[in-house]
Amino acid sequence: LRHYHKPSRTASFKTLTKDDLEHFKGILPAETILATPAVGGSSDPIELEGFNADWLNKYRGNSQLVLRPKTTQEVSDILKYCNAQGIAVVPQGGNTGLVGGSVPVHDEVILSLRNMSRVRNYDELSGVLVCDAGCVLEELGNYVGERDHIMPLDLGAKGSCHIGGNVATNAGGIRFLRYGSLHGSVLGLEVVLPDGTILDNLSTLRKDNTGYDLKQLFIGSEGSLGVITGVSVITPQRSSAVNVTVLGVTSYENVQRAFALARKRCGEILSAYEFWDATCMGAVLHHQSLKNPLSAEFPFYVLIETSGSNKDHDDEKMGGLLEELLEEGIVEDGALAQDDSQIARMWTMREGIPESLAKTGATYKYDVSIPIPVLYDIVGDIAKRLESAQLYKPGESGFPVKLVCGYGHIGDGNLHLNIVAEKFEDRVTNIFEPYVYEWVKSHRGSISAEHGVGLMKRDHLEYSKSPEMLAYMKRMKEVFDPKGILNPYKVV
Ligand code: FAD
Ligand code: MLT
Ligand code: ZN
Repeated sequence: LRHYHKPSRTASFKTLTKDDLEHFKGILPAETILATPAVGGSSDPIELEGFNADWLNKYRGNSQLVLRPKTTQEVSDILKYCNAQGIAVVPQGGNTGLVGGSVPVHDEVILSLRNMSRVRNYDELSGVLVCDAGCVLEELGNYVGERDHIMPLDLGAKGSCHIGGNVATNAGGIRFLRYGSLHGSVLGLEVVLPDGTILDNLSTLRKDNTGYDLKQLFIGSEGSLGVITGVSVITPQRSSAVNVTVLGVTSYENVQRAFALARKRCGEILSAYEFWDATCMGAVLHHQSLKNPLSAEFPFYVLIETSGSNKDHDDEKMGGLLEELLEEGIVEDGALAQDDSQIARMWTMREGIPESLAKTGATYKYDVSIPIPVLYDIVGDIAKRLESAQLYKPGESGFPVKLVCGYGHIGDGNLHLNIVAEKFEDRVTNIFEPYVYEWVKSHRGSISAEHGVGLMKRDHLEYSKSPEMLAYMKRMKEVFDPKGILNPYKVV
């Protein structure tokens, strides 16, 4: 059962015909088209399954046509035709989005960027990479890694997500603390507008104040304003010395104290500060082939990474920090990675949480920004509400809800509250929706720190945006996409 509010199909959108398919065959190579018999093609509908269903298996569309253009001009030709005909389109990258934004709601044409995966240019001196939007993040990481650089963002979905999808969602991830938002590291974009216009803003300049910075509008627009086809992004120098430690902590209060001390002692080399709770750890150890690097179980775990250019200096700083944390009783136990494979295992522990939860059951995700001191309160609060409704009992099976847990990028004030249930169903959802959104609003937080709005939160934006802001967002949508063909039913 996939359960969510599905908006009705916009009646004015054209239902695809054989003539439309013939048109696409005229502008695209045959191997880039997947069309089912319903629209005059011969592809098995099973081939389209992976494009119609999202990563969480929560949202599902019914598209009969997937187009996988190889060039920007082909993207332009597709959109020009769809706009003229009133055919709705959903842009899709690696389809790892977590808010139902990347899959069709009804029968929208899926425009997949996966055939656009070329590095166009790399300048090793400036570190500026120019590439197609469909490049997979991990492959770009390998490419720049061979040239002694790193991508300015990293996330658990790196093996599948595209840089274009990252830009479209303004993805945060585990390097945000050090390298900031894509609003800073993306230097230029090539975007195709719904009417087929190609906006060539693929600048490689750090500084350019020639008027409005239009590319910023597309960063985080989730495919609602234009299709990103090219990205220019600045890649930082790779640090020669990297240290990673996992710590066991007995209270959330101490998770915060450890963060304050890590910034004080290692500020200039601190590159990540992540945390997760014991429930997440249980799921990860159950589903990944990993062992707890600590001698005991703790209510909270913290991962600290430092990246610098002088190993002796960094080792001394990290060692000093660990000593102080233990002496002050802020952490109870710590393991310091001794080599690259231990570093990788510690990161897998953190990055393996979403997959481990998804393997456990139907996962509800709330990705919120709230001031750090109260960030974790929401987890206990939701667990209590579910218990009172007799839908959940911690550690006991046989209830509709299996787990309630929290993890995230605490250094960025970003918590991932996850509720894992037997299935997605109203009696469960109603306990925490709109309660979570109200809770976030009461702390002037954001209901989407980094995952975006998609379909999931489009009816809840008023919890984080004023009516005036929403009105201007809608006006922007009308400017770029007056016919509303691009990623309809999402965002605004
Ligand atoms: P998709 O899922 O295909 O699309 C996402 C949205 O962008 C959709 O609205 C789609 O229409 C649009 N879009 C995609 N490509 C384009 C394009 N070229 N032009 C215009 N619009 C486009 N997010 C974080 O912020 N931080 C994390 O740490 C993080 N970790 C994750 C870990 C896992 C295991 C998973 C499954 C997801 C995670 N995500 C995270 C969520 C997700 O937002 C990112 O994975 C990623 O940015 C999405 O990229 P994608 O290529 O898969 O885009
Ligand atoms: C993460 O931080 O692991 C991602 O944002 C994915 C998630 O929230 O599950
Ligand atoms: Zn995250």
